[in-house]
Amino acid sequence: MDSLIIEGGTRLKGTIRINGSKNAALPIMAAALLADGPSVIHDVPDLSDITHQNGLLTELGARVQRQKDGGLRIEVVDESNSLARYDLVRKMRASICVLGPLLAKRRHARVSMPGGCAIGDRPVDIHLRGLKALGATVELDGGDIVIDAPRLRGAEIFLGGNFGSTVLGTDNVMCAAALAEGTTVIESAACEPEVVDLADYLNAMGAKITGQGTPRIVIEGVKELHGCAHRIIPDRIEAGTFMVAAAICSGEVTLENVRLDHLLAVTDKLRGIGVTVEKEGGGCTVAALGRLRATTITTQPHPGFPTDLQAQFMALLALADGNSIITEKIFPDRFLHVAELSRMGARVHREGATVIIEGEQRLIGAPVMASDLRASAALVLAGMAARGTTTVNRVYHIDRGYERIEERLNALGAKIRRVNQKDPDQ
Ligand code: EPZ
Repeated sequence: MDSLIIEGGTRLKGTIRINGSKNAALPIMAAALLADGPSVIHDVPDLSDITHQNGLLTELGARVQRQKDGGLRIEVVDESNSLARYDLVRKMRASICVLGPLLAKRRHARVSMPGGCAIGDRPVDIHLRGLKALGATVELDGGDIVIDAPRLRGAEIFLGGNFGSTVLGTDNVMCAAALAEGTTVIESAACEPEVVDLADYLNAMGAKITGQGTPRIVIEGVKELHGCAHRIIPDRIEAGTFMVAAAICSGEVTLENVRLDHLLAVTDKLRGIGVTVEKEGGGCTVAALGRLRATTITTQPHPGFPTDLQAQFMALLALADGNSIITEKIFPDRFLHVAELSRMGARVHREGATVIIEGEQRLIGAPVMASDLRASAALVLAGMAARGTTTVNRVYHIDRGYERIEERLNALGAKIRRVNQKDPDQ
């Protein structure tokens, strides 16, 4: 079990390239199951979640190969197995994004229900509601979703839920509708850039999708889809994480390969607390040279403030002047990082889905436990700003979403080393 040992107090300076988006790559890799023929997906990051998805697609009859130019070649060679096993799905809930492609292409699928995770319940009721509206029958059997649709017919579908739209739910319904007969209209669709990237890939395969990036997506069903080449959009959450890294270490960092138009809510908040964000070529330079101001943040569906950057901003605001308030509207229990930040001297008080952060002058290094991908990243950021040494345990959580994080941060001046040590609880 690896841990990261972080010597705090360094200022970050230099340039870092942002990788392709994990959350765009996962559904796009699943959508390759829809194609007759190979696809080559470029800028797919080298992460454990991607490796996991490779394994799942291979079990579902795809051949997945990393090409010399780094592109990921995916070609379906056998459609006889449409079972996504519990043992695979429980390790990565995003595996649910194979449901729509399998239903559309093979008219049958058996996919394990994802179950809960560290950031809360991960229901899929809206996914299933949307697929049923297209004519699918859904049974639950032994924890698996068993779904069939001899025919898929276009429909008007509302995909809103109590927490707003659903990203992977929109992806699943869009993939199924792409091969349905007739027109599908998705109302209250997710507007995330990763949904737009999937729609763009589907259109390059021969689908007819318009409205992606708005709450109303229209899909004209077609008879078949072919493979194609596609480049993944930059990872806005990785970019936001490294922007916070620059700010929390009072540094000056240039990020390359950033779509600032995907990060408007984030750069708005950074500028509001005294961080400078200047557009530069295909990226930006982020600097924080003075004290930071407190602010209030409420997470929302895109284009609102992303829940995937909530933990990182909590670490940052722990060092701001004054009291900040963060309200989590997407995953109300996504606060496992609160107790760990408190161990480092942060004064954070949770009241349900809201956390009050009393800005402190400093954080103190301590051993802390990673729990989920983004909370773990927040602990690394806090450790870089803290006085003394911080040990972040169970960093396999971080490796799911950040490629070689310690190497890339050390190249900017951080002092982080990875050690393999026995899990403190074993
Ligand atoms: C995607 O998850 C992302 N994952 C998550 O990023 C991200 O936090 C989330 O969207 C919200 O932006 C990937 O793209 C692989 P949702 P997804 O369905 O699609 C509720 C990370 O750190 N809901 O948009 O699974 C749900 O409980 C990960 O990279 C239902 O009630 O999230 C939540 O409260 C973590 N019923 C809200 O909607 C459903 O059928 C949004 O969830 C589906 C969702």
